[in-house]
Amino acid sequence: MSALMIEIDRDRETDSKTLPGPMLLLGAPGAGKGTQAKELVKLWGIPQISTGDLLRANVALETALGKAAREIMGRGELVPDTLVNEMVAVRLLEPDTVRGYILDGFPRTLGQANWLDARLEGQPEALPVVAVSVQVNYNQLLRRITGRRICPLDQSIYNIYVNPPKKDGFCDLDGAELIQRDDDTEEVFKERMRAYAALTAPVVEHYRAQGRFAEVDGDRPIAEIAAEIVAAVERLRMQPGAGSYEI
Ligand code: AP5
Repeated sequence: MSALMIEIDRDRETDSKTLPGPMLLLGAPGAGKGTQAKELVKLWGIPQISTGDLLRANVALETALGKAAREIMGRGELVPDTLVNEMVAVRLLEPDTVRGYILDGFPRTLGQANWLDARLEGQPEALPVVAVSVQVNYNQLLRRITGRRICPLDQSIYNIYVNPPKKDGFCDLDGAELIQRDDDTEEVFKERMRAYAALTAPVVEHYRAQGRFAEVDGDRPIAEIAAEIVAAVERLRMQPGAGSYEI
């Protein structure tokens, strides 16, 4: 085990043996990746890196990337790999990623997966990535997408059908008026699902084939799913060569 890993181990905030390292949350639109990532952030104290959130921030700030991405996202298609990979590369340079990070919604194409694999191979001190895919059926996904509401201030995620705020239309935590994403319509959802089936489903198979992969049923209470993801990551990290349990 390297000095870096020992340092990370000492700094761990939970008493579990988990050293999350880099992990991926995979799943269709509305599967609950963002919701689960926020649970894991609370537990592990590592950052959620959501490419969807980063792109939406760029759109809001009207950066060159945001201008290039806005219409593509509005149609429910994927932003080109080169743009997304560059954005992720910049984010991964931030010091908060040293103990690990949760990639939410990335990689989404085999090109992105190959880029990430190559990047991690070039960092011998980094743990290999573990991937968890969250499974939810089509009708539930549609209901989740059309019912989703988001707090623009703290990014809390609600659902008017299954996880409503205490006061209709307003965030429980800061009272801000909740918003609906432009792409959370049934029409755009269908296009997002087409993109998922054509381009992202092969990414799931890519990581399944690598072995450090688990699938969880996402049609259950949020806390139950989070507990299963944590257990899966701990199990995957105990595989030879996948973690730092050898100390
Ligand atoms: P992105 O923002 O990543 O959207 P997505 O992958 O379609 O995923 P969502 O954010 O819609 O869903 P989620 O799985 O996070 O679900 P959530 O937790 O919110 O991407 C948007 C666009 O950006 C893409 O279409 C593309 O254009 C572009 N983009 C992003 N990344 C890209 C990349 N890598 N490459 C190229 N382009 C990229 O939950 C959904 C709802 O369900 C919520 O209302 C929530 O409250 C509810 N819910 C969650 N869990 C449960 C549960 N267990 N039970 C009941 N309800 C639940």
